[in-house]
Amino acid sequence: MHPVLIELKGITKRFPGVVANDYIDLTVLRGEIHAIVGENGAGKSTLMRILYGLYQPDEGSIEVNGSPVVIDSPRKALQLGIGMVHQHFMLIPRFTVAENVILGSEPAGALGRLRRKEAEQRVRELCRQYGFALDPAAEVSMLSVGEQQRVEIIKVLYRGADVLILDEPTAVLVPQEVDELFANLRRLREQGKTIIFISHMLDEVLEISDRITVLRRGRVVGTVPAAGTTKSQLAEMMVGRPVLLELEHPPVTPGEVRLEAREVTVAGRGGRPVVSRLSLAVRAGEIYGIAGVEGNGQTELVEALVGLRPVTSGRILIEGHDVANASARAIRLLGAAHIPEDRHRRGLVLPMAVWENVVLGHHSRPQFLDGAFVDRKAIESFANERVEKFDIRLSNIDVPALALSGGNQQKVIVAREFSFNPKVLIAAQPTRGLDIGATEFVERQLLEARSNGMAVLLISANLEEVLSLSDRIGVMCSGELVAEFRRGEATPQELGLYMTGTRRAGATSP
Ligand SMILES: Nc1ncnc2c1ncn2[C@@H]1O[C@H](COP(=O)(O)OP(=O)(O)O)[C@@H](O)[C@H]1O
Ligand SMILES: [Mg+2]
Repeated sequence: MHPVLIELKGITKRFPGVVANDYIDLTVLRGEIHAIVGENGAGKSTLMRILYGLYQPDEGSIEVNGSPVVIDSPRKALQLGIGMVHQHFMLIPRFTVAENVILGSEPAGALGRLRRKEAEQRVRELCRQYGFALDPAAEVSMLSVGEQQRVEIIKVLYRGADVLILDEPTAVLVPQEVDELFANLRRLREQGKTIIFISHMLDEVLEISDRITVLRRGRVVGTVPAAGTTKSQLAEMMVGRPVLLELEHPPVTPGEVRLEAREVTVAGRGGRPVVSRLSLAVRAGEIYGIAGVEGNGQTELVEALVGLRPVTSGRILIEGHDVANASARAIRLLGAAHIPEDRHRRGLVLPMAVWENVVLGHHSRPQFLDGAFVDRKAIESFANERVEKFDIRLSNIDVPALALSGGNQQKVIVAREFSFNPKVLIAAQPTRGLDIGATEFVERQLLEARSNGMAVLLISANLEEVLSLSDRIGVMCSGELVAEFRRGEATPQELGLYMTGTRRAGATSP
């Protein structure tokens, strides 16, 4: 058997205004876990879509097992033993695991009882063979995200794939689920499967892979063995310059209280409180971080603070003005900026051009008006200046926001929210889904804002981020602020105890 399983030679793929893959050579060895890393927009997904037959390259060739092939459809890819695990799950919630696995690979109407039993049996065997914890008879709607991902993997195995492509599979998982996925991938490798694993999380990549290929701006920077390669070497290859994996946190003397919540209670679905009598105060020149397992009221707290959700009781003060139940617009005009958690729903109007998104909610400021009319020129020059300063990668500001990568979309929001001298910034999951370069950039902006006297409330599910940026940390659990620490006062393990409700102290009692 040929040790080289897949060879991509000179693969080039152009989209309007961008060369997504620029003469890419990639060699994948049989039985290895090969990671493809790179910042958002580097061309990873495009390259894998080409290998899976979803896109056709403009130039270049592919060899599988030493023979040239043309992969013009996913069906052809599967015939060659190449399968791709979907990043966004495409499962039917009301169907069982087994039904979902065989769906699409069976002739229409063939899903008789007998076939179903057979399929269930086959799925059970696959789960056993690869040690996947999954019940073939379980309804998909009852599964966790990690389990749904397992169904997608089994689906690809069921179709006979020897090569599994996983595009950012850990992005949707919590740490324990990542561990389980990695254990599954290792078992697949032991049994001779070849895995192509896309990620931009360098710790993960170094942990799971045998070899790593780094892409930058559509080109291969290099392929290195994971053993003996360090995180900072990879980061530098990825970003193209040395990256500080630790940010500086210079001392700043905090000023007056800018944002205050006093005994705030917020009702969730069904009227039960999801935030209970929560009090906190954020000062000028301070980053106040909220740590917590997601779903403990952080989202609702933020929505209440920015006027997107009613407050049942309590007060919210911005520079002394009570804004509980005020409109989002009124709160924004008082100088509160908001980086929303759900950037697609709240942060951007995706079909609208980037130049419009950069001034969203601010287009009626005098600087953008010419008499009674919108001054398009003024907005455009403002937008171009922001694009430059915030290093937003795009062909021009007329493209719709939906054409940008996630990292660049987030930069559009950050650029806008830092623009109009806000006094308070409420940043919810500001670096979620971003790669190193963009994360470092956004975190730097937050620290710079702090140095310039802004009051920053940071809500992040990433405990490392909360620890590295915050001057004070509040822990939320079950809608309450269960503990508050100064920078350096608590270890991650201690915070974890409060986050999971194992320990509580200094809580605002209900
Ligand atoms: N279908 C498409 N149409 C136009 N541009 C695209 C399309 N798919 C990807 N691109 C562009 O190609 C580049 C590479 O994207 P992608 O392969 O998704 O990168 P990655 O997966 O590394 O984040 C980006 O600039 C992206 O905007
Ligand atoms: Mg991608």
